Amino acid sequence: MSEAVESPTPLLEFRGINTHYGAVHILKDVDLAIYPGELVCLLGGNASGKSTTLKTLLGMVTPTTGEVVLDGEVVNDKPTSYRVERGVTMVPENRRLFKRLTVKENLELGAYLRNDDGVESDLERIYEMFPRVKERLNQKSGTLSGGEQQMVAMGRALMANPRVLLMDEPSMGLAPALVQTNFELIQQIHEEGVAIFMVEQNANMALSIADRGWVLQTGRVVLDDSAEALLANPELRASYLGEGNR
Ligand SMILES: Nc1ncnc2c1ncn2[C@@H]1O[C@H](COP(=O)(O)OP(=O)(O)OP(=O)(O)O)[C@@H](O)[C@H]1O
Ligand SMILES: [Mg+2]
Repeated sequence: MSEAVESPTPLLEFRGINTHYGAVHILKDVDLAIYPGELVCLLGGNASGKSTTLKTLLGMVTPTTGEVVLDGEVVNDKPTSYRVERGVTMVPENRRLFKRLTVKENLELGAYLRNDDGVESDLERIYEMFPRVKERLNQKSGTLSGGEQQMVAMGRALMANPRVLLMDEPSMGLAPALVQTNFELIQQIHEEGVAIFMVEQNANMALSIADRGWVLQTGRVVLDDSAEALLANPELRASYLGEGNR
């Protein structure tokens, strides 16, 4: 586990965020701060608001009250593209590749908002990181195995040259052996200096690589602590780290 590299200005922040879907109140007074280079995780049961948190950070859901802050700037009224251009990128739930496009085309799409000249060298870097992806560049993404799709989704997100990667349940649907590999890849990306905000139900695994974590319960943050403290927390152990945890 690496030390949190804290700077005075969080990269991304929620200040008193509330969101609604119609009349239904989902996130309730949520405060979060993600600092450059950190690996943090958001835990919580089904329907607790984890995916909604990620969508709100990225501008796909507009909060009813509160502020979403990027590099100290309130971005509530800025579109997703504005945030992506500034280094916020998401690996969505279930990966959402463009299934009829090839692996290479999916990777290139990750870079569509970039206008620097580092795209080719970043592609090479991703081929090094995921040799299996390189072997399948011309294959239609819909025909890849689940593990391969996960690699392409991570590669596509990295092609945006992110400063922070938002990941929604990256181990969902992967075989146990691949879950381990996947967490190692996440750690590797983190070690290259990318901040990671990971939503996970696999609390033990997530906390074993994270610096800090939050626990959401029906839209409220009920725990906010270092990964070490959360792993030892009896309340969390009972809810998420017991037998049958997936
Ligand atoms: N577009 C939407 N319209 C209406 N309700 C929604 C919408 N998106 C999510 N919800 C509801 O908001 C609540 C929180 O959903 P969210 O996807 O954030 O939960 P989650 O913590 O990611 O759950 P899971 O672990 O099952 O992925 C759920 O009750 C869900 O049904
Ligand atoms: Mg979800």
